[in-house]
Amino acid sequence: MRAPSGYLLAARYRLLEPVGRGGMGTVWRAHDELLDRHVAVKEVRLPAVLDEELRAELCARTEREGRATAMVAHPSVITVFDVVTEDDRPWIVMELLQARSLEQLVQQNGPLHPRQAAEIGRQILGALRAVHAKGILHRDVKPSNVLVTEDRAVLTDFGLAALEGDVSITQAGIVLGSAGYIAPERVLGSKASPAGDLWSLGATLYTAVEGRGLHGRRTAAAALAALTSGEPIPMTKAGPLAPVLDALLRIDPQTRLDSVRASLMLARVAAGGSAEEPLAARRPVRSPAAPPTPAFARRSTHRGLHRAEPVAVTVPAPRQERKAGEGVHRKRVEARPVPSAYARFKTTVIKLCLPRRFWPRELRKRG
Ligand SMILES: Nc1ncnc2c1ncn2[C@@H]1O[C@H](COP(=O)(O)OP(=O)(O)OP(=O)(O)O)[C@@H](O)[C@H]1O
Ligand SMILES: [Mg+2]
Repeated sequence: MRAPSGYLLAARYRLLEPVGRGGMGTVWRAHDELLDRHVAVKEVRLPAVLDEELRAELCARTEREGRATAMVAHPSVITVFDVVTEDDRPWIVMELLQARSLEQLVQQNGPLHPRQAAEIGRQILGALRAVHAKGILHRDVKPSNVLVTEDRAVLTDFGLAALEGDVSITQAGIVLGSAGYIAPERVLGSKASPAGDLWSLGATLYTAVEGRGLHGRRTAAAALAALTSGEPIPMTKAGPLAPVLDALLRIDPQTRLDSVRASLMLARVAAGGSAEEPLAARRPVRSPAAPPTPAFARRSTHRGLHRAEPVAVTVPAPRQERKAGEGVHRKRVEARPVPSAYARFKTTVIKLCLPRRFWPRELRKRG
């Protein structure tokens, strides 16, 4: 049951009014009576079917994840102030943002301009890189977990899907994570990974720029079949963001865009360039037709904190680039694709799990 307004949590946080509701609970605007400041409190709702042991485990895990997230100080990682276990459930106390979620933004204003989406993506990827470096996974990157303020984009709800794969939780019939934003390898049963978070970021930016989810209302099996069919991902509004989304949404995590190159590509698109354009080739003067810098990006860059990480020096040159001194007419040698262990695994799983008509065309031919 939801706590009433005025409830005093941990003898310190007075719940004032709900600011939003999601699948796992309610987010409150609250007053921290000790420090005399406003905070956000996420009241996590646990299904009644959970037994006592499982409840205690969930509270303990939420505390662990809260502690881990609190170790990461990054402008695009939500600041967790406290995690409280009270009334047999976890409560997360965090910074209160004047923000709308990316989901709300798209619902209310329609699809975002590719440059604005790229700027949000650049910042959220910065958050993911910071947490991945500490061994923390998000596991539930999706538009409703990206909060957009006047001057920054912030990733929230770290680790709330930390129970995925827990047999007892699965038996209790609880679905964690959000169907349209879970990486294909996780749909196939693999564990969460940094590459899985990157796929979810790709799906999130796809929604931001296209104004609709990648899978629509399809079931997980149909979505997986669509993804593995080899058909190009339909994009009509992504413009310069399309190559980044294509590369982030690769079904094979081995060939998926890595976070360093993704950062660089998103920074280029956010700055008004093209994703693949080498930085050195950028013209100093923009063509008059170029769209103006979105207000969102203008405000965020001057703070310094949100600049793209200085990755350019460590990033391998894009494949199309010629090395200094390399002949202009030299023919590029294309590497022959060798099926990875993952591709072989995926083929086996598709054959086992999906009816033949859902197999990718190439697979159907091979039989
Ligand atoms: N720290 C915060 N400051 C201000 N508003 C917030 C904060 N955290 C969340 N919100 C608001 O509360 C809403 C609900 O968040 P919540 O995480 O409960 O829902 P959700 O992301 O839609 O679902 P889920 O339970 O799957 O995470 C968000 O869309 C956002 O508008
Ligand atoms: Mg959320």
